[in-house]
Amino acid sequence: MSSSPFTLYPSPCACIFDLDGVLVDTAKYHYLAWKRLAEELGFYFSKADNERLKGVSRMASLDILLEVGGITNLGDREKSTMADRKNAWYVEYIAKMTPDEILPNALDFLHELKTAGIKIALGSASKNAGMILQRVNITSFFDAVIDGNKITNAKPDPEVFLLGARELGVQPTECIVFEDAAAGIEAAIRAEMKCVGVGDPDILRRADIVIPGFQSFSWDKLLSLMKQDCFAANVARNDDEKQSSSNKQINN
Ligand code: BG6
Ligand code: MG
Repeated sequence: MSSSPFTLYPSPCACIFDLDGVLVDTAKYHYLAWKRLAEELGFYFSKADNERLKGVSRMASLDILLEVGGITNLGDREKSTMADRKNAWYVEYIAKMTPDEILPNALDFLHELKTAGIKIALGSASKNAGMILQRVNITSFFDAVIDGNKITNAKPDPEVFLLGARELGVQPTECIVFEDAAAGIEAAIRAEMKCVGVGDPDILRRADIVIPGFQSFSWDKLLSLMKQDCFAANVARNDDEKQSSSNKQINN
């Protein structure tokens, strides 16, 4: 008998996807808009600075940007005006998105899940998630859409994923989360869900497995990894990170 403490295999029944950085690359648009705001405020905001904003809520992102610019003592009203300005620019950019901007093979993977009868939810911090789903024409894949308008606590709080499971009518332990941000992986762990990191294994080392993207990834491959107990291997994650990040990367 497997020593896995997880109930997921053999019957996972739901997948919950983060949006930005997992299904589409909107980080570049966030960057353009934040950089524009920084320029207005008189400082340069680098791509490296922008990395710190991934998975972080809008207002928390603004706080990081102001910290980079050394700007302190702004009131809530001023900050809210700045965040609105940034968002207006961001919305201009994403309003021009097309289905071509779905990340490689992500659409095929969504089709496979649908065919396999797997429920699908979105679990995103973005208040613009609905618009992005529409622009890239994937709204119909989702049985539940949880975005920044529905939650009060940002990742790493598990609220977004727990609400996703609830709206899908499944248990958290039946869900697999796909995430590109460390805060999102932490949220999945706190929700007692399995998680697939999409991106850099050094950043996503708390994920059960890490894939570089959906190229050559498939539902069958995921099931096969579960059979091999790859997801159970991460029992060490709460035990002083015994597992090195490199040996959990799955090179699709
Ligand atoms: C997350 C992004 O998905 O959404 C963050 O990774 C962003 O960078 C956050 O700040 C909030 O997005 P929005 O669209 O509500 O400003
Ligand atoms: Mg993301």
